[in-house]
Amino acid sequence: MQQETATTFENQFEEEVYQGLTAFPKHLSSKYFYDEIGDKLFQEIMHMPEYYLTDAEFQIFENHKDDICNAFAGGGQPFNLIELGAGDGKKTKILLRHLSENDIDFTYEPIDISQNVLDGLENSLQKELPKVKVETWQGTYFEALEKINASDGTRKVILFLGSNMGNLLHPQAIAFLKHVQELMQDGDLFFVGLDQKKHPQVILDAYNDPAGITSAFNKNVLTRINRELEADFYVDDFLHWEVYDPESGTAKSYLVSKKEQTVSVKKLGLRIAFAPWETIHTEISQKYDDTTVAWMAEQSGLEVMAQFSDAGDQFKNYLFTKKKN
Ligand code: AVJ
Repeated sequence: MQQETATTFENQFEEEVYQGLTAFPKHLSSKYFYDEIGDKLFQEIMHMPEYYLTDAEFQIFENHKDDICNAFAGGGQPFNLIELGAGDGKKTKILLRHLSENDIDFTYEPIDISQNVLDGLENSLQKELPKVKVETWQGTYFEALEKINASDGTRKVILFLGSNMGNLLHPQAIAFLKHVQELMQDGDLFFVGLDQKKHPQVILDAYNDPAGITSAFNKNVLTRINRELEADFYVDDFLHWEVYDPESGTAKSYLVSKKEQTVSVKKLGLRIAFAPWETIHTEISQKYDDTTVAWMAEQSGLEVMAQFSDAGDQFKNYLFTKKKN
């Protein structure tokens, strides 16, 4: 591997791409899939028949909205419904509508890194659910949660849906849960959607669709490096490859170099050599079971108060409280 050392990085993206492409084995973070093109590809993924996660969570909300909303409403005092990574809010709107129809007093506070996403969400809510009070927060999850805590002491119900936590390996997920737990007060709730272990083929199919949408999504990280860091990845020379380990419950995505090749990343002063069939690890999508979830809760000072699942137990939403000591 030949490389010159870039001494300074303009942002975290540059630094992480540099670290990841000069590491052995190579890796890139899936958080960089989500630029404008990546957001659109992910929308398409959610509509694919193979990608059962979105439909399953949708079904859970439809079937259990009464119980879920009752749990959120608790004793009846007003609360802030805070969503980490709001996206288009399609599933959340089921709950927002139900809360609103039942005259439950709450404010919806979506947090997202993208102001664009927040603006779109705010506009659609204004049209579809004008009665719902909305306050958006642009920024990272924890920055925003800290600001929300500082701005008022209203009870919090925090949403983290769509198995977004699945991008974290267990130790990182526990660190994440601990951080949320520290920002919770007694009586606050944390509602998390987690994809479940199931027939391994079903999982492989969800991340390896024949239309190649997931492949394009995975390769979008290379396209983005091409555009933003003046690189010359030729994406057709890489293969999207998915593996699933039923023991650990970890699905992993790779980009595999189909041949020996060299890629330059001009902005980082890098020339990256790939051996034939060398890999770049790009994503993990962790699958869970109740035992693992209970263990992670225990490790992070949380307790499972309730859980909701779809008819096929494909997906579950867990409601956590802060563990009393
Ligand atoms: C948005 C992280 C939940 O891992 O299932 C979809 C992203 N990657 N297809 C997932 C994704 C490939 C998705 N999450």
